[in-house]
Amino acid sequence: MSEPPQYQILPLNTSVHHRTDFDCGEPQLDRYFREQASQDIKRKVAGCWVLVSRDSPKSVMGFYTLSTEVVDMKQLGDADPDVAKRLPRYPRLGAVLLGRLAVAKTAQKQGLGELLLFDAMHRTLNAQIPAALMITDPKDGKAAAFYRKYGFRPLNPERLFITAQQLQVILGKRD
Ligand SMILES: CC(C)(COP(=O)(O)OP(=O)(O)OC[C@H]1O[C@@H](n2cnc3c(N)ncnc32)[C@H](O)[C@@H]1OP(=O)(O)O)[C@@H](O)C(=O)NCCC(=O)NCCS
Repeated sequence: MSEPPQYQILPLNTSVHHRTDFDCGEPQLDRYFREQASQDIKRKVAGCWVLVSRDSPKSVMGFYTLSTEVVDMKQLGDADPDVAKRLPRYPRLGAVLLGRLAVAKTAQKQGLGELLLFDAMHRTLNAQIPAALMITDPKDGKAAAFYRKYGFRPLNPERLFITAQQLQVILGKRD
């Protein structure tokens, strides 16, 4: 997927990207980005990608993290029998967890959250090791509304999901 030319989405590089001044308005997410993300990368717990503008390539406007997860097929069957029917009957399926996604307060409401989400979806769909599902655990109802707007559906009270097939359709319409 190609981002608008003024922006780049790159793996977090702690020797280039400034972390300490990132402020999305959610202290827990800010703290994670400032203090924990680089540790998670080093330990292969998660990957972290940042959005920067070409004019100011050290200043982070937003970020997201991805890691691996598994989803119990019984839970998926209970949540959405039609979707489960179209997937193989394995006890568990591999998933990519969109762990965190945030846009700096100064850059919100300009379409950058959407840009990051589509980039994360694209990366999930095109990962070298395939995943049948993408999932996320929105921290509140507002965050859930953001994801649901793009096709995520409830897997359980805390978790939303979207299938790789659905990602293909959504991204196909967009490219
Ligand atoms: C949620 C967040 C990532 C959205 O980023 P953003 O850059 O402001 O969003 P965009 O400008 O790309 O908006 C995309 C669409 O989502 C909608 N949207 C944005 N924030 C939303 C929210 N909190 N709830 C519901 N919808 C939301 C917008 O209205 C827009 O839809 P529209 O084009 O129909 O108007 C950003 O507000 C943020 O970082 N918040 C703090 C952290 C957070 O809550 N993260 C959520 C995941 S845990």
